[in-house]
Amino acid sequence: MRHMIFGAALALLLPVAAQAQEGDAAAGEKAFAPCKSCHNFEKNGVGPQLKGIVGEKAGQGRDGYAFSEALKNSGITWDEANLKEWLIDPKKKVPGTKMVFPGIKDEKKVNDIIAYLKTKS
Ligand code: HEC
Repeated sequence: MRHMIFGAALALLLPVAAQAQEGDAAAGEKAFAPCKSCHNFEKNGVGPQLKGIVGEKAGQGRDGYAFSEALKNSGITWDEANLKEWLIDPKKKVPGTKMVFPGIKDEKKVNDIIAYLKTKS
């Protein structure tokens, strides 16, 4: 039964993953607005600073930020595909994460934010 549910969820997600489009960094800077209450690119706050996050391992480094065990042990590398799933639904991607954020359901915005994050390397 669990497998069937998982399979159904996967079938719903696959079309999303299939449409990989390049994002627009300028639009991404605007779409990053809701992230700013917890993230910047210089200093850890409620969330870790995100400079150079694209391509990094999840929950490591970031100037000693106190990550949740869940994220620290997730084994994720923040490539675009993983970032996309995370930003659409953080709790689904990493159950037990302490990033309290419902996610962004607009796929274009997610692509734009990732393009913006890439400029912050
Ligand atoms: C309410 C605060 C909050 C908001 C809003 C928020 N985050 Fe986070 N974010 C966190 C916290 C806390 C963590 C650490 C999670 C953990 O340790 O489980 C985190 C972790 C992350 C990570 C993983 C960092 C790493 O080193 O592994 C990324 C990437 C990230 N957030 C991106 C975003 C983006 C992009 C947005 C906006 C779309 C956003 N976050 C919105 C609090 C927030």
